[in-house]
Amino acid sequence: MTVEHDIADIGLADEGQLKIEWADRQMPVLTRIRERFEKERPLEGIKIAACLHVTTETANLMRTLATGGADVALCASNPLSTQDTTAAGLVGAYDIPTYAIRGVDETQYYGHLKAVLDRKPVITMDDGCDLVTMLHQQRPDQLKDVIGGTEETTTGIIRLHAMEADGVLGYPVVGVNDALTKHLFDNRYGTGQSAIDGIIRATNVLLAGRTVVVCGYGMCGRGVASRAKGMGADVIVTEVEPTRALEAAMDGFRVMTGRAAASQGDIFVTVTGNKHVLDSEHFELMKDGAIMCNAGHFDIEINLKALRSMASGSRRVRQEVEEFSMEGDRKVYVLADGRLVNLAAAEGHPAAVMDMSFANQALSCEWIAQNAAHLEKKVYPVPVEIDREVARLKLETMGVRIDELTAAQKSYQEGWEEGT
Ligand code: ADE
Repeated sequence: MTVEHDIADIGLADEGQLKIEWADRQMPVLTRIRERFEKERPLEGIKIAACLHVTTETANLMRTLATGGADVALCASNPLSTQDTTAAGLVGAYDIPTYAIRGVDETQYYGHLKAVLDRKPVITMDDGCDLVTMLHQQRPDQLKDVIGGTEETTTGIIRLHAMEADGVLGYPVVGVNDALTKHLFDNRYGTGQSAIDGIIRATNVLLAGRTVVVCGYGMCGRGVASRAKGMGADVIVTEVEPTRALEAAMDGFRVMTGRAAASQGDIFVTVTGNKHVLDSEHFELMKDGAIMCNAGHFDIEINLKALRSMASGSRRVRQEVEEFSMEGDRKVYVLADGRLVNLAAAEGHPAAVMDMSFANQALSCEWIAQNAAHLEKKVYPVPVEIDREVARLKLETMGVRIDELTAAQKSYQEGWEEGT
């Protein structure tokens, strides 16, 4: 009997399974964890509700949790990021209850979150905090049964800290994004590559010789800027935080205000986590042919409402490209409806980098299960031992060997007596 689900087409299960297995080959750390989970079953009987991008990499995380004994159900964390083949593979080949269809409207999207909450989870796994928000706002009676949660993104963790500060956070949550083996790699190399991948798949434009404006120089922005530069683009960075702006300048990028960049850019990528980073004042200055996209979690970074009201008309010119007719006989373009371009127009971060992010997720779940009794209702970092273990395993599976400190070096590092 097939597990409960709401997916586009179960007939895609075989294709989905092949793709999930393909990604798994690039996820050796998660595979090792899965092998240990199979023997130790650390999540036996634990109900987990996961709200993540439904990709092949996520599918391998779900398999790992299920192999560890968890009763896991998955819904999508974005209406446009679901791979329908993967959703079918999860249901058809791995018996994981999955509620996700690419292109759902808002009602269906939230309906899927409700479906996983109906299963009365004791652990939540979120990407962007939508599931946690729904649980707190609409199902406060369920909070007492939840022993903990994990959160994947910067945006989600900011919300969780706000909830903790307001005294409303109902259970402990591990902020996976803040692990070094997550954000140094996933945010930088993952977003760096997959955002460029999404822009190219959506448009097939040449980056060499173009001016790419990267709005935001956090870990994700750094990745996008460095990859665009590597492909021959002239990169401008805009940033509101002085230290980051300085870093961008010393990394060799032109740094200026959004308004100054607006008339120069051929391609704009927002990666700030904030709203209306590209707004009317920028749209009116943009060149004919300018392309805008977003690689931040929510679709609020480009003010689409303002753009629609300024445009005399719009039409879809390619699957993920909408053209807006602007004053002065200019056309400007928005990719993937302003949603995460790397997931909506491409396949998200490559598996090799999600390997580390999802290893942190799996081990954090195990840690919650082991430590639930003494955790408080606050945001916890991923324990440093887990973070280091993920780095160690990744290096090992890459065949990279590193030195160890000698006894003399260790005592030098720990002491204070030795001087010049
Ligand atoms: N976020 C970015 N890329 C992802 C991927 N491939 N799978 C799940 N979540 C992601």
